[in-house]
Amino acid sequence: MKTLCVAVVVLSLTSVCQSAPLTCEQLNKPLDKSPDLSGRWYMIALSSDVCLIPSLLNALFWPSLVIDFKEQDTPNLYNANVTFNMHDFCDSKVETFFLKSSSLFDVDSNNSPTGEPDTLLHTGCPDCLVIKGNDGINLLMYFSRRKTVTDAELKEFETQSECMGWFKPEVLNTVHEYQECKSLDDDNEDFSTLTAKMGQRMKSSYTGPLQCIAQDIFYYPRVAFEWIQERFYSLL
Ligand SMILES: *[C@@H]1O[C@H](CO)[C@@H](O)[C@H](O)[C@H]1NC(C)=O
Repeated sequence: MKTLCVAVVVLSLTSVCQSAPLTCEQLNKPLDKSPDLSGRWYMIALSSDVCLIPSLLNALFWPSLVIDFKEQDTPNLYNANVTFNMHDFCDSKVETFFLKSSSLFDVDSNNSPTGEPDTLLHTGCPDCLVIKGNDGINLLMYFSRRKTVTDAELKEFETQSECMGWFKPEVLNTVHEYQECKSLDDDNEDFSTLTAKMGQRMKSSYTGPLQCIAQDIFYYPRVAFEWIQERFYSLL
């Protein structure tokens, strides 16, 4: 009887924990209220409506990136220290953001929100952040408090990108080393090692960008063909 009870409890718990996957409608929705951004966020993956951007980034640099958010004395105002490592070269930049519900604004010289904000979207992952940015290029960025996420969580982010009609996300480097690396600021001759590493990386990863280019090449003639076909039929 005892084991049966345990089994029932376990079974009902698992059914509670396995929630249904989020629909496109839910995944496209901005967050209802501001999350606490403070602390470190590891960038997991990146997608865009332009295939070549994330794919070239990964094919050449395969970077790892981390953001350390720190809330300022003024409410809603955050300093964000964005640090990346590509081929053991690191660089950091501190920027200030204003968070208002699901909108993440840049600030002007008075620390007032300015411009088109990035948007924080819903996610089924409990300690993740999905940021939709539109600084000229449309980007969907997936961050977590953890250095890696589960396959199911990554799949959900893929679905989220798909829901927007965007391309499959690129997963960034998960080795987050930001102390033992060279500075990009130094004008040292180490840059030849950087370009050599980029070349090495490209040799093993060129298929990604190539697929993007191929998609374009095969897409446009088809569009042209369909257009001609349509004109042709309208003549008949
Ligand atoms: C930003 O973060 C990097 C990596 O953790 C660190 O080395 C750097 O000192 C930080 N910069 C500032 C201004 O806090």
